[in-house]
Amino acid sequence: MSGTSGSSDVREGKLHEPVLLAEVLAQLDPREAGRYLDGTVGAGGHAAAILERSAPSGRLLGLDVDPSALVAAGRELARFGDRAVLARANFAVCDDVARQHGFAPLDGIVLDLGLSSIQLADEERGFSFRARGPLDMRADPDLRDTAADIVNTWAEPDLRRIFAELGEEPEAARIAGAIARRRMKAHFVTADELGRFVAGVKTRRPRGIDPATKVFQAIRIAVNRELENLNAGLAAAVRVLRPGGRLAVISFHSLEDRIVKTFTREAERGCTCPPDFPICVCGNEPLMRALSRRPIRPSADEVAENPRASSARLRVAVKV
Ligand SMILES: C[S@@+](CC[C@H](N)C(=O)[O-])C[C@H]1O[C@@H](n2cnc3c(N)ncnc32)[C@H](O)[C@@H]1O
Repeated sequence: MSGTSGSSDVREGKLHEPVLLAEVLAQLDPREAGRYLDGTVGAGGHAAAILERSAPSGRLLGLDVDPSALVAAGRELARFGDRAVLARANFAVCDDVARQHGFAPLDGIVLDLGLSSIQLADEERGFSFRARGPLDMRADPDLRDTAADIVNTWAEPDLRRIFAELGEEPEAARIAGAIARRRMKAHFVTADELGRFVAGVKTRRPRGIDPATKVFQAIRIAVNRELENLNAGLAAAVRVLRPGGRLAVISFHSLEDRIVKTFTREAERGCTCPPDFPICVCGNEPLMRALSRRPIRPSADEVAENPRASSARLRVAVKV
């Protein structure tokens, strides 16, 4: 392996299980001598399978914003030698990074959005409403604002907006107001403290999920600028794929899936501008064709073995 970067600060709880692995391989169809990019390499599960299928000469560039994920990926991919290259980078600029590493144009790209089980289980990172660690939630430790910065300093209307828009939380206004009053007395410090507070404020109990789930989702998306990165990453992916190259995206909630679906539809019509652009500025010919109209869902067996897969949806498009 070459180009590995990252800290030695790996806190692996249980290993991360790659979701929809067989489906990603079937759709991406990795070939010998192909060049692939995993924009969310995580613990390297999808990347290792792509390298196995493209043996003996296929190569893969794995990106992650989290140095500790790159350490885990480095271990998993070491057996592939210099066929695997790792770089600490945001997939939002995957076209530039692929060019810098001599990988462009690419035969296939996979984006497995969100966070790995290793990150979610790490109490010190504060992603879970049960975590006793600090309210942090940054996948990229170099980001400036933590979850605590957002909860303790953002104006109440901004909190209300992200809870409603990024969390689809029906009690967004009530929760934002309660947080704004409480933080005047004492700032929120730990993740479980906020989790318990939100659960106490809500008047309705959602079925099957913790009452704080949607608020935590909203804060995590805001901290990591997940939707902005996804919009930029999809546009960058189209730029760096070769004709016939495939883009596979696994999303875990409806906001992400809507962005991927809209982007593919626009790219089929000819526009490659991000979905939130008010007008088309690219003026391009049709660039992508969706391989299926409906997203691919995990099997009942996969969900039984790995409950994290239950909300996963895979969409695949080919560059025309
Ligand atoms: C669901 S995990 C990927 C797991 C991986 N497919 C595997 O099989 O082990 C998502 C990974 O993407 C990383 N990530 C999230 N947003 C990113 C971004 N914008 N650019 C690069 N990496 C990102 C996270 O740090 C995390 O390690």
